[in-house]
Amino acid sequence: MTPILPDFLGETARRIALKPYPNARQFVVQHLYPDTLRLLLLLHRFVPIECVIGIGYSGNPSVVASLENEGIRVVTPSYDDLAGTVVEELGDVLERCRRDGLELVLHEVGGYSIKALHESHVEHIDLVVGAIEVTKQGVWVAESLPELHIPQLNCAQTRLKQVEGKMVGEAVVAAFDTIARELGIALTGRRALLLGYGWVGKGAAEALRLRGVEVTVGDVDPVKVVNAVVDGFQVSRTTSGVGAPAFVFGMSGFQSVDADCLAVIPDNSFLISGASKNHEIDLGALAACTRGTARVHQHVVAHELNDGRRLFLVNDGYPVNFTGSSVPDEIVEFLFSELIMLVPELLDRRPAPGIYPLSDEMEAVAAELWLDLR
Ligand SMILES: NC(=O)c1ccc[n+]([C@@H]2O[C@H](COP(=O)([O-])OP(=O)(O)OC[C@H]3O[C@@H](n4cnc5c(N)ncnc54)[C@H](O)[C@@H]3O)[C@@H](O)[C@H]2O)c1
Repeated sequence: MTPILPDFLGETARRIALKPYPNARQFVVQHLYPDTLRLLLLLHRFVPIECVIGIGYSGNPSVVASLENEGIRVVTPSYDDLAGTVVEELGDVLERCRRDGLELVLHEVGGYSIKALHESHVEHIDLVVGAIEVTKQGVWVAESLPELHIPQLNCAQTRLKQVEGKMVGEAVVAAFDTIARELGIALTGRRALLLGYGWVGKGAAEALRLRGVEVTVGDVDPVKVVNAVVDGFQVSRTTSGVGAPAFVFGMSGFQSVDADCLAVIPDNSFLISGASKNHEIDLGALAACTRGTARVHQHVVAHELNDGRRLFLVNDGYPVNFTGSSVPDEIVEFLFSELIMLVPELLDRRPAPGIYPLSDEMEAVAAELWLDLR
């Protein structure tokens, strides 16, 4: 059957005349979705993949099977084992690269392998040309290292990523709306507290407003709070005194729904992450004040608190949009076009250690290509 989507990724490789790099290998930490499969299969033809570590909470067995059919090693640790598995597998790949005289590219989501390289395999840093990274979370990891010894090229600090952020926010709200409907709950006319008014949070706030939800925004950055005021939202300067939200969305990439916040969230509220990993909500603090739990939906657990309140935790604190279809593939693929462009930027240009977003000129190529094919 003719594919429904245009071949954005193949066309990207053609337009930039991507060539094979026989002396380089990839170590990959990625989500395992159909769109990432297309990306990995394409890149594998140019920079062979030694190992893919699947990010556990987004794994898809058919994607694993397709990668293994190509002879690619795939490991799918639980989220708790992810960091340790990356250390171990990266060590093995570095040993093989040393033995075979190859150099290595880290290709990842979330900065796991750049951290593992600097903290556990520093003796092999000379083998690593650099990292290509998709997320801000991964850029924040690189920024947090005491000294960055390799270049990290990213498509996380680009204008197209900001465009994608709006769609992520909408996907978060759509995913939660589906769950709420399955529970018989209408969003309209209810209140939400939304913590983190960045690229994703702003998209979610707009999507909630379109569904008739009265949104109050909180952010640690006062400029973002001013932005929310100007965009017409209620704002909260602290996490207490927020009225009576029925839904609390953490969209910051850090721990925004913390113990102080949990202490004042009204009875019967839902706790929802729209960021990444499971650190947006202080799950330890929630567990410490919980006297019993009951599953009320495939993706929702009711927490009966010691003080008598009941809070509903969505998707165990992981992003709600990982429960079903999220951002449409054709949106994600303009970012993957950018990621493909980072490969020659890294392997041909050999930048010095540092953090570099894709250039505006290259980003324009990705945007034109997307408009041409769509
Ligand atoms: N769920 C998904 O599919 C998905 C997709 C893309 C990005 N993300 C994640 O979403 C998160 C946000 O991304 P973004 O592009 O909007 O980032 P951003 O930097 O644009 O926005 C984050 C905002 O949160 C604020 N913030 C930081 N700590 C806070 C706290 N403790 N309380 C309240 N606000 C706080 C910051 O000031 C900033 O305004 C990141 O973790 C990113 O990796 C998730």
